[in-house]
Amino acid sequence: MGLALPRASVFLATLAVTAALFSGAQGFIRVQNGVFVDDQCKEFTFSGYNTWQPIESALNLCCGGYEALVGQFKEAARQNFTVVRMFGFPVQRGFNLQTAAGVYNEQAFKGMDTVIAEAARNNVKLVIAFMNNWNYNPLQTDWKCSYTNWTTTALGCDDFYTDPNSIKLYKNHVRTMLTRVNTVTGLEYGSDPTIMAWNLMNEPRNEKPNGAQEIQSWITEVAPYVKSLAPNQLVTVGEDGFYQPATCQANQANPVATTNGGPGGAWPVATGNDYLPNHMADGIDYASIHMWPDNWGRTDKAFGQTWLAAHIADTKYLGKPLVLEEFGKAVGGYLPIDKQEGPEAQYAYYKQTYDAAQASLQANTGLKGIMFWRWAGVDPTAKLADFDEAATIASNSSVFTEIIQPFTSALARKNADPTRAAVTGCTPVTGAPTTTTAKTAASAALPPSTAVPPTSGATAAGSGATATGAAAGGRRLMQGTAPAPAAAGAVSQNFVGKSTFTTPAGITAANINSKVTC
Ligand SMILES: *[C@@H]1O[C@H](CO)[C@@H](O)[C@H](O)[C@H]1NC(C)=O
Ligand SMILES: *[C@@H]1O[C@H](CO)[C@@H](O)[C@H](O)[C@H]1NC(C)=O
Ligand SMILES: *[C@@H]1O[C@H](CO)[C@@H](O)[C@H](O)[C@H]1NC(C)=O
Repeated sequence: MGLALPRASVFLATLAVTAALFSGAQGFIRVQNGVFVDDQCKEFTFSGYNTWQPIESALNLCCGGYEALVGQFKEAARQNFTVVRMFGFPVQRGFNLQTAAGVYNEQAFKGMDTVIAEAARNNVKLVIAFMNNWNYNPLQTDWKCSYTNWTTTALGCDDFYTDPNSIKLYKNHVRTMLTRVNTVTGLEYGSDPTIMAWNLMNEPRNEKPNGAQEIQSWITEVAPYVKSLAPNQLVTVGEDGFYQPATCQANQANPVATTNGGPGGAWPVATGNDYLPNHMADGIDYASIHMWPDNWGRTDKAFGQTWLAAHIADTKYLGKPLVLEEFGKAVGGYLPIDKQEGPEAQYAYYKQTYDAAQASLQANTGLKGIMFWRWAGVDPTAKLADFDEAATIASNSSVFTEIIQPFTSALARKNADPTRAAVTGCTPVTGAPTTTTAKTAASAALPPSTAVPPTSGATAAGSGATATGAAAGGRRLMQGTAPAPAAAGAVSQNFVGKSTFTTPAGITAANINSKVTC
């Protein structure tokens, strides 16, 4: 697969345009007074999608290749999608970014450079996950078990969150990513306004008995670290968003209810996610959740409604915006045959989800962005190349044309309205734009003109994947010295960033679970 097209000349011709887009330090999305804002303090709300294997596409290793990547971002802009979520690593078998502790695959980095440049060219912002909780094939190294494996001190994968050497490796990785100079744009990843936000990790889980405390202490340590290196970019956890029994929401909204204090609890509790304290942590700019009715064994529509309603209601305790950053509903696919649902169920699920998003946006109750998994874009082979084809949405499907498209263009019209008031308490960005460090056309690295497989035996990610997910308690198959806490009731400032939140009186990460009423 992979097309070997002579397109270096096209690339050079467009570089000048690209460089113009990259000038200026402005253009970062901030959180002010609990909502996303642009430079002019106008609220930013968004409709977007998740993309799969864009790095491999950029390198002509799969999925329609570079041409499809270019086409996808161009089409995304035309469709008014403004934010795209991606993994900051490839997932194809045997093809990794960090291949050993501190050892990086320059080819994979160049692929990511190209993806970021294409997003910028189309004025699309990115949310990027630093690494993964999951592996999709046995040769994957960009996930937590590789980090613990690279140490001599961690005993198991979930020691990732507490083992000092694993944390050191994670921070080294974060630093490597944020200080990476994009070979196409010349911008450091950590100071590139195209990168709106980072996920600390895709769907962190820790199934040890004290997993929730361990994830919380990990977030508390690493989120401020990210912000210290990338103060203009936003940070969220990247988790599914399950609740712990210390909040009544665990019984109300988790996919499996749990009684307080049960040993181990139900599987959502055993993931170690602790939605409210996790997103209350310093360095976390906004809350985000995922929703996978099939994988979680809750395809009934009532679950989806409750899951969204609970997290939307909880934004009033966090004082931060909420993003549904990953959700999907499959048609058939990998579920056991008796659990498979058809296109009508998928349509109904999408409909209720976008209706809920619309209602929250309209009423200003906290949900500010939505990104589905995933869009087939312009790649005619997208549905064939990957193992999550059952959840992939084609542009000519009724889900797209009747639900996603109308929602997205209505949002675009709203965001384009010049009469919108500025957000109260927000300070517009002023000051001289910083000049780009973009390299000259002659020295800028060209995108690959031929596909060079990184290792022998690189194949589609799906070939090595095993489908054991739903049975294993909702395990996902697809794909996703701090300062004192804020003064109660005050507008707090994220200490290294520029985000401000309206922290409700008396609520802290330590007590938020007990303050929430259901
Ligand atoms: C751990 O490292 C060994 C040897 O380097 C390797 O064979 C194994 O696949 C690794 N396991 C994981 C989970 O990365
Ligand atoms: C969408 O397009 C594909 C490829 O062109 C075609 O096979 C399919 O029938 C179309 N589906 C609908 C619902 O129009
Ligand atoms: C994008 O949004 C604009 C409104 O700002 C609208 O006119 C246009 O039709 C939308 N594009 C699509 C493909 O829906």
